Formats: sequence, C-alpha cells, structure tokens
Amino acid sequence: MTVSVAVIVVAAGSGSRLGYSLPKALVGLVQRPILSRSLDPIFALEREVQLVVVVPRQHSALAEQIVRDTAGRASTSCTVVVGGSSRQESVAAGLAALTPGIEVVLVHDAARALTPVAQFEAIIDAVETTGLAAIPGLPVSDTIKRTDGFGKAVATVDRSELSAVQTPQGFPRAQLEAAYSGASGDFTDDAALVAAAGHDVTIIHGDPLAFKITTPWDLRRAEQLLAATVPVALPRTGLGVDAHAFVAVDAAAAAAGGAKVLWLAGLPWPDETALEGHSDGDAVAHAICDALLSAGGLGDIGSVFGTSDPRFDGAHGDVFLTETVRLVTEAGFRIGNVSVQLIAARPRFSPRRAEAEAVLSGILGAPVSVSATTTDGLGFTGRAEGVMAIATALVYPR
Ligand code: CTP
Ligand code: MG
Repeated sequence: MTVSVAVIVVAAGSGSRLGYSLPKALVGLVQRPILSRSLDPIFALEREVQLVVVVPRQHSALAEQIVRDTAGRASTSCTVVVGGSSRQESVAAGLAALTPGIEVVLVHDAARALTPVAQFEAIIDAVETTGLAAIPGLPVSDTIKRTDGFGKAVATVDRSELSAVQTPQGFPRAQLEAAYSGASGDFTDDAALVAAAGHDVTIIHGDPLAFKITTPWDLRRAEQLLAATVPVALPRTGLGVDAHAFVAVDAAAAAAGGAKVLWLAGLPWPDETALEGHSDGDAVAHAICDALLSAGGLGDIGSVFGTSDPRFDGAHGDVFLTETVRLVTEAGFRIGNVSVQLIAARPRFSPRRAEAEAVLSGILGAPVSVSATTTDGLGFTGRAEGVMAIATALVYPR
C-alpha cells in the first residue's frame, strides 16, 4: 500500500522565550524531551504516514537519536532533516524531503507536545474529504483589544470572529508546495501562506491540549497535565528472612582466646556466643540484603553471592550490604528505607540499637530502623539455639 500522508514536525527553533540553553524541542518534559513527546501521537496513528522531523542544526545528532528512540520498532518511515533560521525555512526543508506518493501534508509544531492523536486524524480526514486545507482552532475566550502599539487600547475586536489556531495544519500537497515556492514575506503559520496564494482554509475544532509550549509557564502547565496522566513509577517493596545457629562453644578455643566473635547488625559483640555461617552469620545484615535484592528484583543473597565464594569467607555484613547497595543502584533504584527485626533470646539488643541503626544507615545511605523481640522461650530462638531476622525494604525507581 502506498503511503499518501506525510507529517512534517518542525522542531528546529531555539526556544528563546522558553529561555533554556538547549533548543526547546530537546528540553525535558517529564522524563522525556519535548520532541519525543510530540511524536507520540504520530506513532499512534492507525494509518501509515511518512514522518519528516526538522531538527536544529547544532544538535542534529542528539535530535536524530531522540527520534530513533521514540520510533522504537514503529514501522513509520522517518526522515530527519536540518531546519533553517525561521519556521518557514524549516517547513520548506521538510517539504523537500517528501516522498513521491504523498498527497496530503500535515505540518505540526513539536512545541505542541501534548496534541492528541484525534486531532491529527481529524485534520487528515478533513483534507482528504474536502480537498481543502484544514486547520484546528479554538474560540477566543478573552476580550481582545486592538492597541496603538504603545499600551493604549483603541478598539475592541469582535471575538466571535476570532479563532486561536493550532497545529497540525493539513494541506493538499500541491497547494502547500506551490504556496511555498511562490512565498514572499514571512508568515507565522502555513495556512496564512496557503490563504495568501488564494486557497480556502477550513477551521475545525481544536483541542486545548494542543497548546504551544512557549514560555516557562507553558512548560509547567504541560508538566502538570502529564503528571496527572502518566503513570507514576511506583516504589517496590522487598522482604528478607535469615536465621543462623549459635556455634557450639568450644571451651578450649575460648580459653585460648581463639573463639569466633559474634557479629550482629553490623556490630561486633565481643562477650557473646558467635553465630555459624560461611560468613560471620550476621542474620540482620543478611535479611536486609535479601529484602533489598528482592525489592530490586535481583534474586536473593544465596544466588547473588554464592556460599562457596572465598571472597565472602568470614566476611562481615558491611561487605554484603555495600555490594547489595551497588547492585540495587545499578538496577536503577534508590533506597527509600529499610526496617529489620531481630528475633533472639540473646544478645540483649536494646542498649546497642541506636549504634546498630547508625552503622547500617551509614552503609545503605538510607534510614534503617532495627527492632528486637524474643519469642517467650518458644522455638529455636526461644531456646537460644540461634537467631532470626526479618527485614522489609522500600526502593524507588529513579
Ligand atoms: N521552528 C523551527 N525552525 C525555526 C523556528 C521555529 O522548526 N527556525 C519550530 C519550533 O521548533 C516550534 C515551532 O516551529 O516547534 C513553533 O515555533 P515557536 O514556538 O516560536 O518556537 P521557537 O521559535 O523555537 O521559540 P521562540 O520563538 O521562543 O524562540
Ligand atoms: Mg519562534
């Protein structure tokens, strides 16, 4: 099937009124550049079109990359060309890139980044059915005054005669090309050029969402509108549980001063019985690692660190925690907080709770709260055969 409709998106302006050092189309609008957002409705069109994007010369490589990234696997044919110093020159550059089968051309401002796809469809429909130029417009609600140019109102304009026009503006290709080749003077929109060449232009009802991002205030408005529609990336929770047995106390080793030291919640506990484990057996630190790894969808401590890895032989909790933080960060998350509970008959934890929280929070770079409980003599923790810890973690996509 031959493609008969083209959409030229002009994105080559500098955006002087927006006031960024980057050209306006490359400025971010909720996680993506304005240019990328402005292409969404075109890739959402049901029919195949030729897309021509007119980009600023100075940042053409970056702009082209944005177009390619936004296109993804869409089958739309994309051409990227460099624009000129006026909007009219930029449109002319876009026109030169049209392929032979094109009969209807839409010209659209990238700066109208939130234009709904229905507005593109309505314009294509109108041009195809009438054979005339069609542009979207909205009634003007403010009272408009004509001034003397020096701040004095000289007349009230009848606003029922006015329409605030938007884009995309659609034209039979031949009309638009002829108007451009014979253009004299600078026009602020394409319809003015076509009308000056003697053709009728039909106005169809526009959409307030197609407003042009011109000033910082417009950008803020666009951000607020998007925030209401774009699904916010939700935080993710994670859960981790670990248990370790106390080592059988070897009286001879203890007497010789060679007994293993208990490490728990990132702290050494010199006068307490140590825990078994390939590492130091710090169940609190390990439960935190599991909670963070599960929140990040990264598996668990066993699959990530491997009990046979000699690097972790006798390693303390900080080694596992630091590596876990690195993995979670690398996977695109920021740690919100961690909450962990130690379930143990001993050691008596409360005197060192604040110390443990400070050490663990320091390692994670996020608040860690540690609580402790006993099980009233029940189970392996009650019989002081070992300890257990349960942790939850909250991480945010960045
Ligand atoms: N445009 C263009 N080439 C130009 C000037 C403008 O392609 N030389 C495009 C802009 O990128 C924008 C659309 O025309 O998508 C409407 O123009 P406007 O909102 O005026 O954008 P800028 O000219 O970039 O902004 P300013 O006038 O504030 O500098
Ligand atoms: Mg401009």
